[in-house]
Amino acid sequence: MKQGQVHLLPSLNWKVLLDRPKSKLPQPLDSNQGEFYYTRNAIWHSLKYLQLSPGDEILVPAYNSRSEVQALADYGLKLNHYDTLPNTQVDTEALEKQITPETKALYIIHYFGFSQPLDEIKKITKMHNLLLLEDCALALFSKYHGKLLGFYGDAGYFCYRKYLEIPNGGSYVLSTSHSKIQEMNLTKPALLSTLPELAGLLIKPLSEHYSWFASLYSWLRKKARAKLRGKKIDSGISDFAREHVNWQVSKISKYILYRLEIPKIINQRIYNYNYLKQTLKPLIKKNNKIRFLNLEEQDGFVPHCLPLVVHDNVFWQQALAKHNIETGAWWHYDPFFPNAERYPNNNWLRQHILEIPIHQDLSKKDMDYIVQRVKNIITKK
Ligand SMILES: Cc1ncc(COP(=O)(O)O)c(C=O)c1O
Repeated sequence: MKQGQVHLLPSLNWKVLLDRPKSKLPQPLDSNQGEFYYTRNAIWHSLKYLQLSPGDEILVPAYNSRSEVQALADYGLKLNHYDTLPNTQVDTEALEKQITPETKALYIIHYFGFSQPLDEIKKITKMHNLLLLEDCALALFSKYHGKLLGFYGDAGYFCYRKYLEIPNGGSYVLSTSHSKIQEMNLTKPALLSTLPELAGLLIKPLSEHYSWFASLYSWLRKKARAKLRGKKIDSGISDFAREHVNWQVSKISKYILYRLEIPKIINQRIYNYNYLKQTLKPLIKKNNKIRFLNLEEQDGFVPHCLPLVVHDNVFWQQALAKHNIETGAWWHYDPFFPNAERYPNNNWLRQHILEIPIHQDLSKKDMDYIVQRVKNIITKK
């Protein structure tokens, strides 16, 4: 049978819907502090509980997905961008020089499941009396020194749907408890927003088996998203929308969440990451067209994807898409990012990082297929 679609994110097996619910969710999915449709909503709502005021300055990474910093800007915070190192780690020395008397908070992103150097970062935030906001949208379940990422700072943010087969869901955890959730006036999300995402997750398995269905699925998904999910810009990045900031996580997402085998999912992701990395290693040794990002997996690392360094991520994304392999060339282009040339490593990362899927649905056969296609592209060029 011809290889069907290899998706970047997992699909939903309808049988899960018939399973008995678990009695308890593991951290950080057990949040009762605030659960939202989008993580950007969680970020926006958390700011008042952190006692940040419009006009306060926050240090934010130039390498970002745009929606998280839009939430900060919409609240009225003054953004002071910093560049990361070329391996996405925070350059703590350079960062410290950017702190001004107006700086009230530091926003960090843990990319692809890797932890930022939290020991050094905590020293800086302590010394300068800054709040630490940890974005774990791409690092759900990852740990550092045995503790979950997101629990080191004053706030941690999580995006469930980037690791799990649910239509929406994001949350925050604040280090100081608050009992103001009722005051948030959270509202149900529009059904027409959740349903196409749910349908997409449910029909994905068909496209994994039949390549013609993969094309139909991708066409339908684009159409549905453009019509039903609020503002989208040409680069495909979705914007923060104040009119949706009170949307809470949908009931169906919670229903599915309680039925997922989280420990199994975590183990499978780690296994797939290691398998893919090991299988790609000989290929990488033999040529310099691709390489791994120079990062070490910490104990308790739960990968979001396998980030590869390539010469042109959009070229690679398109070349692999021709063979039904979906990859990420995230944040390649942000037309509204100010003075991008002032952040050379951010610019470089946006052109060169290719996110390869490793999620729980992938089989060894899928990963061997990815490696084979990567090899073909290298040898063709
Ligand atoms: C690093 C990071 N933070 C925050 C977000 C926002 O997540 P959501 O789309 O759930 O608002 C994203 C989304 O892509 C992201 O990549």
